[in-house]
Amino acid sequence: MALHLSLLEWLLLLVILLEGVAIRVVSRHWNAHRRAKREEGRGKPWLLRRVPVDALDPVFATPNPRLGHTTATEVAFISIGQTPVVGAPSDYESWILAVLSRQALNMFEFGTCTGRTTYLWARNSSPSARVHTITLHPDQLDTYRGDADDNPDDQADALHESSFQTFVYSGTDVERKIVQLYGDSKAFDHHPFKGQFDLIFVDGSHARSYVESDSEKALQMLKPGGVILWHDYRGAHRSGGVFDALNALGTTLPLMHIEGTSLVAYRSPQ
Ligand SMILES: C[S@@+](CC[C@H](N)C(=O)[O-])C[C@H]1O[C@@H](n2cnc3c(N)ncnc32)[C@H](O)[C@@H]1O
Repeated sequence: MALHLSLLEWLLLLVILLEGVAIRVVSRHWNAHRRAKREEGRGKPWLLRRVPVDALDPVFATPNPRLGHTTATEVAFISIGQTPVVGAPSDYESWILAVLSRQALNMFEFGTCTGRTTYLWARNSSPSARVHTITLHPDQLDTYRGDADDNPDDQADALHESSFQTFVYSGTDVERKIVQLYGDSKAFDHHPFKGQFDLIFVDGSHARSYVESDSEKALQMLKPGGVILWHDYRGAHRSGGVFDALNALGTTLPLMHIEGTSLVAYRSPQ
């Protein structure tokens, strides 16, 4: 049946149709935006200021930023390539860690895992440098002491990752520079190490109570002018314990979120 409409009626119909399309487009964008926000930080803001890596250390400021290279930032490197390795920093993050180790004499790592960062530090630091690294041995899983408020997934991941007894550095010529410690990091007595380390990597259990405890110890073990790096500042939905603990710590310390990474850094005053 043919519709006999006046021009005005046709125009009205068109307006109604366009309105419907516009409402659908806007609501699709709004929903996508809400979903992205939720996934990004479950509505929680990213509080730490994001800075380029050369704000952490001038060694990263290249004379020609397009080439991105100086001999001061050249390191011996092993890539994880295409192979996903449990809890591993990305190649870019590992390069930053390796470059910083060139200036450090005493280093400490919470969370050894495969020992790749431990190896990069030992390989790239001076011959007299020392790397201490602590991890939970697979036989010590029952010593893990989570808090009631910790996310159970963070605890499950921490225990799952605690499966290593030999490491990337095992049997290499830099193993002599490494002191492998085993145990629960909350039970670790850091007092003999106060004020000793130039570079500390906090990358153990990602449960909030552990990030808080490890950070507290790291701050006490840091030398004046030293650097602490935390891994996995990825938003509330991916590493909520790290995200919440660092956002809270950032209210009292000038923490920096390094652009293009999940690393957060702090340099203590000289
Ligand atoms: C994300 S992985 C570390 C990755 C490593 N830093 C790297 O750069 O390749 C986390 C490590 O923390 C260790 N860990 C988890 N809970 C721990 C705890 N309570 N005490 C000590 N180490 C713990 C795990 O055994 C695992 O080796």
